Amino acid sequence: MTDLIVGVLGAGTMGSGIAQVAAAAGHQVILADPFAGAADRARDAHAKTMAREVEKGRLSRDQADHLLARIQYLTPGRDDYSAFAPAGLVIEAIIEDLGIKKSTFKGLEAATTDRAILASNTSSLSITAIAAACRRPERVVGIHFFNPAPVLPLVEIVPGVITDPDVTARSRTLVDAWGKTTVLASDTPGFIVNRIARPFYGEALRIFEEGLADKATIDWAMKEAGFKMGPFELMDLIGNDVNYAVSTSVFEAFGYDPKYRPFLSQRRLVDGGLFGRKTGRGHFDYRPGATNPEPTRDPELAEAIAPRVIAVLINAAADALFWRVASARDIDLAMTKGVNYPKGLLAWADQLGPATVLSRLDRLFAEYGEERYRASPLLRQVAAENRPFHP
Ligand SMILES: NC(=O)c1ccc[n+]([C@@H]2O[C@H](COP(=O)([O-])OP(=O)(O)OC[C@H]3O[C@@H](n4cnc5c(N)ncnc54)[C@H](O)[C@@H]3O)[C@@H](O)[C@H]2O)c1
Repeated sequence: MTDLIVGVLGAGTMGSGIAQVAAAAGHQVILADPFAGAADRARDAHAKTMAREVEKGRLSRDQADHLLARIQYLTPGRDDYSAFAPAGLVIEAIIEDLGIKKSTFKGLEAATTDRAILASNTSSLSITAIAAACRRPERVVGIHFFNPAPVLPLVEIVPGVITDPDVTARSRTLVDAWGKTTVLASDTPGFIVNRIARPFYGEALRIFEEGLADKATIDWAMKEAGFKMGPFELMDLIGNDVNYAVSTSVFEAFGYDPKYRPFLSQRRLVDGGLFGRKTGRGHFDYRPGATNPEPTRDPELAEAIAPRVIAVLINAAADALFWRVASARDIDLAMTKGVNYPKGLLAWADQLGPATVLSRLDRLFAEYGEERYRASPLLRQVAAENRPFHP
């Protein structure tokens, strides 16, 4: 399988990471980016990463040199995709813009053989819509890595409605062979992870906006419940600009379903340029010498926060299962391998008892009368039948 040549278009954060993963798996990789300096920056970043791997004893100098030698860094002209002619798979990781992605796929299709798989790493656009630009949309599929691609094991494989099942199967087998954990997701907004994870941020923002607890305390409560990072520190790490954009795009893609409404307090941080770690300020202050508030370590407050966020998360997972976004197994794998949740959400529901989770949601719904707390029909059904999500 390693004789397959892998093309990667876009040498930014994701493209350079994906190129590294494919080269590590033994493929010859063509990494192209038409913007001046992008391919060179990726080459420098790879050289640095490899030097670190050698220093830490994870790779020999020889292995690192071979890996680097397998990547060809190119700066083609705009709309020149001819370098990808020998590729059996091209993964696109350029700007998140449907119009630009469509014209790019048209160009990629013209430059490659009929058997080549054309994949998009898009986080939020429809694979079917991108594929529609091609003469043969059957060979277009989503291969969605998580950031950083060389570190995070999860990859969502997303067939569009016209994708040939053989293309989906070949993509999955290939990415599995790269040592990744693949899950199959339907072409729906946010796929699995970016859909189900919304309440981790949203419910935390909401609890803060209501004045129930401050940000440090909410983060503390979620970490007490087993999460590696609190929602606010995680938003600051991802970037509030990026996190807010994903929330907005999922909200729009669901036809402004109020369940996915983004939150004003985060919008204000974006308006103010408080993106998080990368700008020195976000929910918290990262400037040298800054101090941040300590959490109120009150177990009663923790009980008012974590079970509520977890119930809304479980509801999102149950709803994704209900709408056949993915299997129960893949939904749980996606959240543990893609965003490091301490447990799969459906397994967590089984452990707590689906009826307990349902009664929490019903209480929230009774209190607020808002869509976001409406229980998924599947959660209600599972609770009524007194059975687990995972048989
Ligand atoms: N950053 C993430 O956390 C993340 C995670 C998963 C998926 N994604 C998706 O991956 C894609 C790339 O995101 P990123 O974070 O790597 O962005 P980025 O800005 O770091 O990199 C994008 C690269 O694409 C290049 N580019 C822009 N327009 C182009 C064009 N028309 N043709 C060719 N190259 C072009 C740019 O020069 C840049 O190097 C997006 O679709 C994004 O939604 C991002």
